Amino acid sequence: MEQKQEEARILKGDICYSTDKHTLKTYADSYLILEGGLVKGVFHEIPEQYRGAWMEDCTGHLIIPGLTDLHVHAPQYAFRGLKMDLELLDWLDTNTFPEESKYKDLDYARKAYNIFTDDLKRSGTTRASVFATIHIPATELLMQLLSDAGISAYVGKVNMDRNSPDYLCEESAMKSAMDTAEWLSKTQDAYPHVKPILTPRFIPSCTDELMSMLSRIQKEFHVPVQSHLSENLSEIDWVKELMPESKFYGDAYNRFDLFGGDVPTIMAHCVHSSPEEIKLMKEKGVFIAHCPQSNENLTSGAAPVRLYLDEDMNIGLGTDVAGGANLSIFRAMTDAIQVSKLRFRLLGNQLKPITMEEAFFMGTKGGGSFFGKVGSFEEGYEGDLLVLDESKIPHPQELNLKDRLERFLYLSGDEGVVHKYISGRKLF
Ligand code: GUN
Ligand code: FE
Repeated sequence: MEQKQEEARILKGDICYSTDKHTLKTYADSYLILEGGLVKGVFHEIPEQYRGAWMEDCTGHLIIPGLTDLHVHAPQYAFRGLKMDLELLDWLDTNTFPEESKYKDLDYARKAYNIFTDDLKRSGTTRASVFATIHIPATELLMQLLSDAGISAYVGKVNMDRNSPDYLCEESAMKSAMDTAEWLSKTQDAYPHVKPILTPRFIPSCTDELMSMLSRIQKEFHVPVQSHLSENLSEIDWVKELMPESKFYGDAYNRFDLFGGDVPTIMAHCVHSSPEEIKLMKEKGVFIAHCPQSNENLTSGAAPVRLYLDEDMNIGLGTDVAGGANLSIFRAMTDAIQVSKLRFRLLGNQLKPITMEEAFFMGTKGGGSFFGKVGSFEEGYEGDLLVLDESKIPHPQELNLKDRLERFLYLSGDEGVVHKYISGRKLF
């Protein structure tokens, strides 16, 4: 019989979670207790008042918080792993825009978004901030499919009213803004766990007129914002040309009050951010979506993640599918570690590589905190968790929990996820 989410539920296993970027807590053969969809705590013995509560016995399995993908393009899932030998602006023109234009056709969108949501459901990702396309019917369909799959997500209808091919360009700033406001009214309360997020694609795709209107819309609907920032050198030069009065790329968003502060904001990439841009991101609490694999595939560069972590900035991981070819945040963790090592060695041994604990933190609590108390097993956190099976990749030696987790990140990944809960709801 399916057990109600409000009632206490106990998961028994080998429990690992981050409390901060340096600290991985491990509890062998222990009990994680959820009540009302929230974490009560992790205990070596079941506390008196929970004896007799419903228990899922996962003895011998690792139990970790759910993973957050802070930046993923759902319509690009269909062409992941294809035509990777281009840099950002050519890649957008050649691959991305033609593919995204197909989502005008709802039948195509249904096929493609079903594949995306099925795979996301089976993955280790419990929370995601997703780009859709400019098309409202397809965007609403994506929201419905994610909601049906039980994923907690923000989804953005993309805004583009300049420098885009005719087949993927909104008619005018006014039309783009009016459609966006109508879409927000319709979807803001439509799904319990899927919410809209304002999504100007990036400065080159949006006129100043549109950005001003989106700023007003943000104030009216109090929605969060996501976009791209300082990903590629040609893109940064282009932004300077398009908006010569902005002091740096991030300032171009900030001029419209779409850059953190009271506006929860995710900026993807931040590979080439200047010291002034970094300072403003820190002041405004902008969330950085670090997308290491995409930054390799599109030859964008290696973000200074060590600096962002040491400055205590808000940072999580993104797959940036299809810039990144893999939907797995486990993979994003190991990519982040590897890219930071290359950066360190190739750029004069500055900015030490990030550690496994730091990568795990970014993929769980770091990115999760954009969604509230998400990504840890401290008391009061949302009951987002994964149960992992390492048995397909056996080992002869005794390993401690941290070593088993590290090995899982590198060797198992999404395929090893056997159970998934979001806010105490069991997806599988
Ligand atoms: N900048 C603007 N649009 C995109 C996109 O679709 N992917 C990436 N990686 N960067 C972008
Ligand atoms: Fe992106």
